[in-house]
Amino acid sequence: MMRGNEQGPLLRHGVIGVGGIGGVHCRIAAASPDVTLVGVADSDPARIEKAATMYGAAPFADWRDMLASGRLDSVAIATPSLLHAHMAIECMEAGLHVFLEKPIALTLADADRVVETARAKKRVLTVGHQYRVHRLHRTTKKLIEDGAIGRPRQILWTWAQHRDEKYYSHYPWRQNWKDAGGGVTMHSLSHDLNVLTWLIGAPVEVSALAVNQKHDAETEDIMSASVLFEGGALATITASVNRPQSHVVRQIIGERGMIEIPDTQSLTFDHKDHVLLGRFDTHAPPAPAGIGGLTGQPHVQWSPVPLVGDPPKWKKLLERFGLVRGLKPHGLAVLLQSFAHAIRTGGDPIITGEDARGTLEFVRAIYLSAIRGRAVAFPVDRTEDAQLMDELVSGRTQMRRFRG
Ligand SMILES: NC(=O)c1ccc[n+]([C@@H]2O[C@H](COP(=O)([O-])OP(=O)(O)OC[C@H]3O[C@@H](n4cnc5c(N)ncnc54)[C@H](O)[C@@H]3O)[C@@H](O)[C@H]2O)c1
Repeated sequence: MMRGNEQGPLLRHGVIGVGGIGGVHCRIAAASPDVTLVGVADSDPARIEKAATMYGAAPFADWRDMLASGRLDSVAIATPSLLHAHMAIECMEAGLHVFLEKPIALTLADADRVVETARAKKRVLTVGHQYRVHRLHRTTKKLIEDGAIGRPRQILWTWAQHRDEKYYSHYPWRQNWKDAGGGVTMHSLSHDLNVLTWLIGAPVEVSALAVNQKHDAETEDIMSASVLFEGGALATITASVNRPQSHVVRQIIGERGMIEIPDTQSLTFDHKDHVLLGRFDTHAPPAPAGIGGLTGQPHVQWSPVPLVGDPPKWKKLLERFGLVRGLKPHGLAVLLQSFAHAIRTGGDPIITGEDARGTLEFVRAIYLSAIRGRAVAFPVDRTEDAQLMDELVSGRTQMRRFRG
């Protein structure tokens, strides 16, 4: 019998690619009140058998057979990045709504085709940029929207963790331009670039440097960018997988105050973060003379900010003593809920195809700037973008390498 909830029958959902993050997609679908996991597809027979047995879903060795089975309303695609665009397009052409893992595509021309197919086929498309739902980012967004710091003017945003050689060698597709489309910027920082445009606005110009310091991969393992946003905010953004010990500092400085996250923990998951709000006792005026002479500085009054969506203290205490189970859903589960809701209501999911294309454009502008050695303005030229990718994939152009 078909399961359902008060909104009607559950969406019949499938997952293509049941490896690392595909396993999470299976788990959240199996636990979801909105979808029922009916099929799983993977080119690896051992993985497919394991997932099919664990979740009682039909196994498919060929993802196209799963599409042709007629059993699905929607599908999550969690295969290596090179496969995203064409799989998403075929699935939407077959009538399915698509929850695509990030990145939406490897080139901007392909991202345009994915977005256009969703529009033409009237399918809901969402992409796995789940950092948007982390408490840290919702808290930061609320502070900015409430005017707590005034207009953001300057941003320091870093992402840094340690990834050893096994991170690449164990997953050969992560090592090269052809399959992964980039290194730390594409793979990890893209989540943050998605959040930053949501917090600050669209980027208008980028100047970046990227090199490979440590890893055998073809792509960059460290990157530094200066970004001008619409409205005039300037950001310094860095990303690295070369840090032995991660200590990640972030600041957003506005005209009335600043938000500081002294050591960001929510780099991958929705961890607890400490957010500080510093209010200037005098607003930074347009000209320095306005704050009391040439050297006058406003004082800063610091206070901790409770995280949006954090459980109340009494609940945390009960959780600590194991009296209630802590409910902190995976960010992808929140996106799945929003995806299912958009399918039912005809609205937009939290992350739209256009959002994810904008994020890819940010990533691609960083690569164009770093590799061509010049500032890059938005919108990014699609032909230049495709040419750069051809050169990187063929090896005619290579990431600079520095070895100590
Ligand atoms: N949203 C996130 O936080 C997040 C986290 C990790 C990875 N990702 C994205 O998810 C994607 C997968 O990453 P991963 O780390 O899970 O990789 P993975 O290598 O662990 O898993 C990929 C799976 O796809 C399968 N596969 C490969 N080719 C296939 C094909 N033609 N048909 C069917 N299955 C095929 C592989 O057998 C494997 O099981 C990447 O694009 C990555 O960028 C997103």
